Amino acid sequence: MNKISKIESIIEQIQTPCYVCEEALLEENLKLLAYVGEQSGAKVLLALKGFAFSALAPLVSKYLKGCTCSGLHEAKFAKEYFGGEIHTYSPAFKEEDIEEVIALSHHLVFNSFAQLQKFKTKAFGKCSLGLRLNPEVSSSPVDIYNPCGLYSRLGITKEQFLPEELEGIEGLHFHALCEQDVDALEEVLKGFEEKFGEYIPQMKWINFGGGHHITREDYDVQKLIELIKNFKAKYGVEVYIEPGEAVGWQSGPLVVSVLDVVKNGMDIAILDSSAEAHMPDTLAMPYRASIRGAGEAGEKAYTYRLGGNTCLAGDIMGDYSFDAPLRAGDKLIFEDMIHYTIVKNTTFNGIKLPDLAVLRKDGTYEVTSKFGYEEYRRRN
Ligand SMILES: Cc1ncc(COP(=O)(O)O)c(C=O)c1O
Repeated sequence: MNKISKIESIIEQIQTPCYVCEEALLEENLKLLAYVGEQSGAKVLLALKGFAFSALAPLVSKYLKGCTCSGLHEAKFAKEYFGGEIHTYSPAFKEEDIEEVIALSHHLVFNSFAQLQKFKTKAFGKCSLGLRLNPEVSSSPVDIYNPCGLYSRLGITKEQFLPEELEGIEGLHFHALCEQDVDALEEVLKGFEEKFGEYIPQMKWINFGGGHHITREDYDVQKLIELIKNFKAKYGVEVYIEPGEAVGWQSGPLVVSVLDVVKNGMDIAILDSSAEAHMPDTLAMPYRASIRGAGEAGEKAYTYRLGGNTCLAGDIMGDYSFDAPLRAGDKLIFEDMIHYTIVKNTTFNGIKLPDLAVLRKDGTYEVTSKFGYEEYRRRN
């Protein structure tokens, strides 16, 4: 893929902080995901938890088969904005939500046999029912994103599996990957088949979950297509994959402004944004976000620690260097900030939520959601 960002062409128009999704870049991702679907025969869903951007739902729906949802609210959002199938899985469904969830969902996936027993009668005949299984194989890079880690609550282990209670179950689901390539999927599938392979032929579908980094430049797309085709041929089942991150991957930045520069042993720039509230994975995972045109500390002439506009001492994006000194009013472009950011934002410290905007393919810039005090007031 040849991803060329055009953000600089409209930078003057951007009121910060703002997430700007570049429609053309998103569409490149969607085309590749649709290609995987066409060539492999798998159905590709969007995992809403990673990328929920209503203004772009029509574009997503043009290429993907529907949404995978984590519960009632995402299922409602999928119904309101997207077309296609709605698949809902939750670690545990609540009694008060279940009827609405059933009415909205095409597939309903339970995390335990107890939940299945509790809601089976209500759901039977209305949704295609499935179980999330834990293949207990995962090379997920960090513990907080390892669904197969020690004592994981996500999915039924082989030890807890009750083959005698599979009546009415049409599908099996696993989710074991995080930003991983197809070799990791191959390993997980091996474990899944070793543990649960004998039950696959009686199913209509198998859902391979998310975490497939399909739109990353070095991902082996062809190998994924072959792997899915072989699996489908071997078992005669429908295969689903449900990436979130791969949909929004490198499809746009968070644009912020420098508010002030202070000194305490080094130069520190305070931004009108927050690592804690607007880019939480940089602290949770953690990882270093890249900034367009900036280098590592000391690499360029002017080094700054970049910090958020909150009282949290650790609200730090990192140390970066620039060719020119930073001044109040300068804009910075934090790359690849569309997935797992907007969906995780908070109004901690009353900080303004970044607006959402789209840079359309024809070059027009459209602010699609504006946020202010109201968001803070409603939530507190
Ligand atoms: C059940 C399930 N499906 C799909 C996904 C999407 O994963 P990713 O965004 O890494 O592709 C997740 C992410 O946590 C998940 O828990």
